[in-house]
Amino acid sequence: MTAKKRVGVLISGRGSNLQALIDAAKAPDYPAEIVLVISNVPGAQGLARAEAAGIPTCVINHKDFASREDFDQALDAKLTAAGIELLCNAGFMRLLTEGFVTRWQDRHLNIHPSLLPAFKGLHTHARVLDEGAKITGCTVHFVRTAMDDGPIIAQAAVAVHPGDTEESLAARVLQAEHLLYPHALRLVASGVVRVEGDHVVGMTRQSGQSALFSPPLHGTFD
Ligand code: GAR
Repeated sequence: MTAKKRVGVLISGRGSNLQALIDAAKAPDYPAEIVLVISNVPGAQGLARAEAAGIPTCVINHKDFASREDFDQALDAKLTAAGIELLCNAGFMRLLTEGFVTRWQDRHLNIHPSLLPAFKGLHTHARVLDEGAKITGCTVHFVRTAMDDGPIIAQAAVAVHPGDTEESLAARVLQAEHLLYPHALRLVASGVVRVEGDHVVGMTRQSGQSALFSPPLHGTFD
């Protein structure tokens, strides 16, 4: 097998997607290894997850920097020193400068809890419920300067259930995120997919998969 790609993960909080990546990367045939976790928030729960897995961690607190450029430079220096080849935002809640984004272009992934380009930004699930959408989901994409924007690598569709709250919907989407992110990182790290223009290409055609219907076509209704 070719060498595993060295992956850095950026977090700001809970780190459940980081955990999914850590767990997936334990498989001997997984094409990536998580070698560094950086949080911009001191004490983020994800830092403890990384430490428990024996992965080096680092806090780069944005509040310690006079400008976004200075923060991004410190981030870039740390990633470069660690020989990071691929970068994954996993609940990293900070916008990055154009210089940083350009430097890491097509090597930098983000996960967002909606079917992009719908519902970019914060409070995604509340807005999905407000709109009465019947299907939502999650997306892993390459990062571009605009928020939650960039070539889409993989998506999972998730049904919105009657009576869903923001919390119940977030939990259902999060389950899909934990499967989707390792899947998308595998596709990128193994070189199966690549960016062409604004699109990600290279994936194989699906067989035997049907559409997700919500409400279900043949379900029972209460
Ligand atoms: C996840 O739902 C992720 O999709 C979202 O933050 C959560 C982080 O959870 N990211 C965004 O909204 C980015 N725009 P986690 O810390 O448990 O992985």
